[in-house]
Amino acid sequence: MQTIQVGLIGLGNVGGGVATILTQQAELITQRLGARLMLKRAARRHPEHPIDVSLSASQVTGDALAVIHDPEIDIVVELMGGYEPARTYLLEALRAGKHVVTANKALLAEHGQELFEAAAAAGRDIGFEASVGGGIPVIRTIKEGFVANRFGAIASIINGTCNYILSQMSDEDLDFAEALKEAQALGYAEADPHFDIAGIDAAQKIALLASLAFGSWVPHQQVYTEGIDGLSRRDIAYARELGYRIKLLALAKTAGGRLDVRVHPAFVALDSWLAHVNGVHNAVSIQGDAVGRSMLIGRGAGAMPTGSAVVGDVVDVARNILQGSSGRVPPRAYQENSLQQLPLQKIDEVVCRYYLRFQVLDQPGTLAAIAGILGQHDISIESVLQKGRAHAQGTPVSVVMMTHEAREQSVQRALQAIASLPAVQGETIRIRVEDAMET
Ligand SMILES: NC(=O)c1ccc[n+]([C@@H]2O[C@H](COP(=O)([O-])OP(=O)(O)OC[C@H]3O[C@@H](n4cnc5c(N)ncnc54)[C@H](OP(=O)(O)O)[C@@H]3O)[C@@H](O)[C@H]2O)c1
Repeated sequence: MQTIQVGLIGLGNVGGGVATILTQQAELITQRLGARLMLKRAARRHPEHPIDVSLSASQVTGDALAVIHDPEIDIVVELMGGYEPARTYLLEALRAGKHVVTANKALLAEHGQELFEAAAAAGRDIGFEASVGGGIPVIRTIKEGFVANRFGAIASIINGTCNYILSQMSDEDLDFAEALKEAQALGYAEADPHFDIAGIDAAQKIALLASLAFGSWVPHQQVYTEGIDGLSRRDIAYARELGYRIKLLALAKTAGGRLDVRVHPAFVALDSWLAHVNGVHNAVSIQGDAVGRSMLIGRGAGAMPTGSAVVGDVVDVARNILQGSSGRVPPRAYQENSLQQLPLQKIDEVVCRYYLRFQVLDQPGTLAAIAGILGQHDISIESVLQKGRAHAQGTPVSVVMMTHEAREQSVQRALQAIASLPAVQGETIRIRVEDAMET
């Protein structure tokens, strides 16, 4: 029986999961692959540190290039993270004729085009299923399962840290700071959580998904991104009262020849699919013209779920090696000569419904003044919610309005004008409402 040898660069959280799966599931994988997958060597920064996976000391090195240039290794798996030297190592592995697998979404969002082109030019496979949605096979679904579909919209929850924090704020009535602290204590949030809570991680992932779905490279820096740190439990409570949940959505849609790709908190209807995705779970709802709407849900991070996706890629690459069919599925889902460059829609042009919460002094005529300004900007109000009266004179009360569909630019201009009303205090909260048909 043929043996296909694998080398790992990175033996941390995910690398450890991959090593464990390759060892524990060796027999099952052989039954499914028809060949043996063998983890030959692994590189890490500190090879002298103890490990809890079944590798002998001689199999672990501090020299990643020794793994890349080992002539017996067929597949190099990069699980070290970061931009450099991860990028250089992957390019070097492709140059050395190896197939590669990575879980590094940050690297792919930044240098994906270069790496995909290098893989295509070398006639080698590049697997990156674990880079979005952890254990959920969303990339394979877009590239292969739904290959017969033109995509309409992708609406996703692809940052488990944010989803956990928002779920706890909703279900346990916690403040953002309390929920973040709890997430950190449980290992669901980094000590420096900026990358996750500012929406940057989700923007990198949706840029990648949109690029694959629409055959047009989406630079992640151009994805409109808002995080969750400005959300208060008061807005979460109002959302519930109005029949919604607040989620950090990562969205990608086509809009009149443009791509509308964005990440921001959004109201999703309580009975929508994504409203039911809670805790650290991830989910991706995909609209295809033939298949209709489907949703993948599961664990978006963690050693074993992510390791499951990585090993899935390794087996896929190994199958191609065995059949002599490497490069069977193009890395960017489209043939290179069919890729296009669609412009991105600006956030100003987005049209959706809005939740607006004004902080106003309880004075006669204030509501009429706000409604008047909204009307001047073509924004019509669907409903208004005002609870009670101010306890003390000069204390602002919250007035909540749900609008009908309006243009973002009009809403921004109206809010600027409303801010200058003497009775309006502080910043108005504005949260987009996403269509139940897509979520
Ligand atoms: N963690 C998750 O749940 C998850 C989910 C999806 C995707 N990912 C992605 O998977 C990748 C790995 O994440 P992780 O959580 O497993 O990271 P991690 O626990 O920090 O592990 C990183 C590993 O890379 C090694 N390393 C770092 N620099 C190196 C270098 N220059 N040469 C050789 N080895 C080096 C480290 O060595 P030492 O052990 O000696 O320090 C460590 O073993 C990242 O791209 C991440 O975005 C992670």
